[in-house]
Amino acid sequence: MSSKLAPAIVFDPATGLSEREVALRPAGPGEVEIDVRAAGVCHSDLHILTGDWPSDRPLVLGHEAAGVVTSVGPGVTTVRPGDHVVLSWFAPCRRCRKCVAGQAWLCTGTAAVANTLPDGTTPFTDADGKEVWPYLGLGAFTERLVVPESAVVKVPAELPFEVGALLGCSITTGVGAVVNTARVRPGESAVVIGTGGVGLSVVMGLSLVGADPIVAVDLSPERLAVARRFGATHTLDGASTDVARWCRDELGGADYAFEAIGSPKVIETLPAMLTSGGAAVLVGMAPTGATGAFDLFDLADQGKRVLGCNYGSSVGEIDIPKLARLYLSGRLPMDDLIGTVRPLGEAAAAFDDLKSNSGVRTILRA
Ligand SMILES: NC(=O)c1ccc[n+]([C@@H]2O[C@H](COP(=O)([O-])OP(=O)(O)OC[C@H]3O[C@@H](n4cnc5c(N)ncnc54)[C@H](O)[C@@H]3O)[C@@H](O)[C@H]2O)c1
Ligand SMILES: [Zn+2]
Ligand SMILES: [Zn+2]
Repeated sequence: MSSKLAPAIVFDPATGLSEREVALRPAGPGEVEIDVRAAGVCHSDLHILTGDWPSDRPLVLGHEAAGVVTSVGPGVTTVRPGDHVVLSWFAPCRRCRKCVAGQAWLCTGTAAVANTLPDGTTPFTDADGKEVWPYLGLGAFTERLVVPESAVVKVPAELPFEVGALLGCSITTGVGAVVNTARVRPGESAVVIGTGGVGLSVVMGLSLVGADPIVAVDLSPERLAVARRFGATHTLDGASTDVARWCRDELGGADYAFEAIGSPKVIETLPAMLTSGGAAVLVGMAPTGATGAFDLFDLADQGKRVLGCNYGSSVGEIDIPKLARLYLSGRLPMDDLIGTVRPLGEAAAAFDDLKSNSGVRTILRA
């Protein structure tokens, strides 16, 4: 039996973005029902709207969220009603070789990236009874959702829901790119290109580990001013600066170059920013099928590395509570990432906020 209808922000490949009423079926075995309290608007939602990542089915968007457990299905042991949780958009299967080896971010058994629950179904139907699918296995731009147990991570109740939402994607990805993927050490130099929600989180992670200098590059002066607050020691306008030349002249090449846009053209310029042995870290997600070219002799000759970064190479159950503790002890200024808080009905305006590169992260609240 499905619940009463509730508004949801749906992208339909046939009709585009709209608010649609959806019904939710109850949590089944191994599933958890969540009352969503805050959901961030991430560029990975925008990639669906722009067609960078084509979808063949209607999706409830939203994958960066936190909320409260309202009910659990049979067999659920790690959370109970009333628990505050952060949602993970890469619900690991916990059985594949990568999961067993402790690399949940590389899980080969997850269904989340196919925009379904683990059994291939969706918990959402529209007013006509037609299926509407959960983006990245969540679909958080609505009031309530049903997810597998491995998509929820319990967090302290004193963690604000807006911060918890950002822990669901941008912060865990950005800080994780620094501490897990690249393993940056104190005093190493780093360039971050693109300082939206994810890039600012990279800057925050670099400050935490004591990287220096930390060079932030963006097209928006407003974003660059925020990057300074997060610990960037230098800021550069990406439109008017040859960043690779700047890195060679000023740093003798950077130890790390993080890309947090998803632009093939920018990604191609990363290795030229590096010193020998340096690493380019691809955090931004390019459109499906995009390719790029590097100077292959330089890469081999100079021992440069190119590192892919999915979800900050994070294990949700370990990294999300760790980051929550760092916030609560005042070590990570996550509040400064929270921008405008809008009601769900203003989702179109929230996407405009994202497209205009103004402010910081917009949060939607049902
Ligand atoms: N690796 C992962 O697991 C993961 C997780 C979340 C998001 N992402 C991806 O990270 C990327 C960034 O996401 P976001 O939500 O921070 O996006 P965003 O739109 O908030 O930020 C992008 C920033 O890049 C800047 N920018 C655009 N073109 C530029 C250029 N040529 N030079 C310098 N700056 C430029 C924009 O001004 C903006 O500030 C997206 O591709 C998103 O899909 C990846
Ligand atoms: Zn995201
Ligand atoms: Zn797995």
